[in-house]
Amino acid sequence: MAQQNIYDNEIFFKGYQGIRDNLSANELIEIPQLFKLIGDVKDLTVLDLGCGTGGHDRKLIELGAKRVVGIDLSNKMINEAKKTTKEKQIEYEVMSMEDIDMLNEKFDLVISSLAMHYVKDYDEVCKKVYKILKENGHFIFSYGHPMDSCAILEESQENFVILNNKKYFLLSDYNNEGKRVSHWFVDGVETYHRNMSHLVNGLIEAGFVLKRMEESYATDEIIKLKPKFKEQKDHSYYVYFKCKKEN
Ligand SMILES: C[S@@+](CC[C@H](N)C(=O)[O-])C[C@H]1O[C@@H](n2cnc3c(N)ncnc32)[C@H](O)[C@@H]1O
Repeated sequence: MAQQNIYDNEIFFKGYQGIRDNLSANELIEIPQLFKLIGDVKDLTVLDLGCGTGGHDRKLIELGAKRVVGIDLSNKMINEAKKTTKEKQIEYEVMSMEDIDMLNEKFDLVISSLAMHYVKDYDEVCKKVYKILKENGHFIFSYGHPMDSCAILEESQENFVILNNKKYFLLSDYNNEGKRVSHWFVDGVETYHRNMSHLVNGLIEAGFVLKRMEESYATDEIIKLKPKFKEQKDHSYYVYFKCKKEN
């Protein structure tokens, strides 16, 4: 079965664009934490897997990267990225990350922001990223946290219950890996749940050395800006990995 391309669904695309404002969890939590892990990018060539509308790619150039290639499965996302990008050092291509072995170039850095959990074969993508990196290159990405994606539910059901006015998240099926189907703007949105050891061992088996791993959290400052994110203080929605291709 071909990879689902939900971001080309008109209703989904509009819904998703609508939540990406300055106070979204991406802007307040995920992007700052991912870029902290990315660190110095001066003069690096970068490949962004699942680049969406290219915000990260423009930021990478602003931070001094030499050249960025953004790829995404969705025509709509790439069209929007092209429309909003003036920087000549950025190139976009409609391409699935499963096909990066077709790119004729090696990179200093490969990043991916909340896109890897849409991929059916995580292990294979990790191996392809390893091959496309230069020696001493890094792969740094965020992924929907397995403790947030594990519960197998009806599409309309939430992954938490309320007890004594507090949200308690459901952790069943943590080791039952595979496809999860949920309602997010539309029915039938497919992502893939993997447990933490799978996420780590996929990287190790591809040849990477794991340098750092982080789990998302909302600081008091973030909660002040958006009180709704209080629940993200002690429950991680995202996990971040920084690994290196080294001998
Ligand atoms: C949550 S969005 C994140 C977009 C962007 N990275 C950002 O943070 O703004 C996930 C993106 O991954 C893309 N995507 C999903 N599966 C993909 C695949 N197999 N190959 C390339 N892109 C994919 C989607 O089309 C979508 O643009």
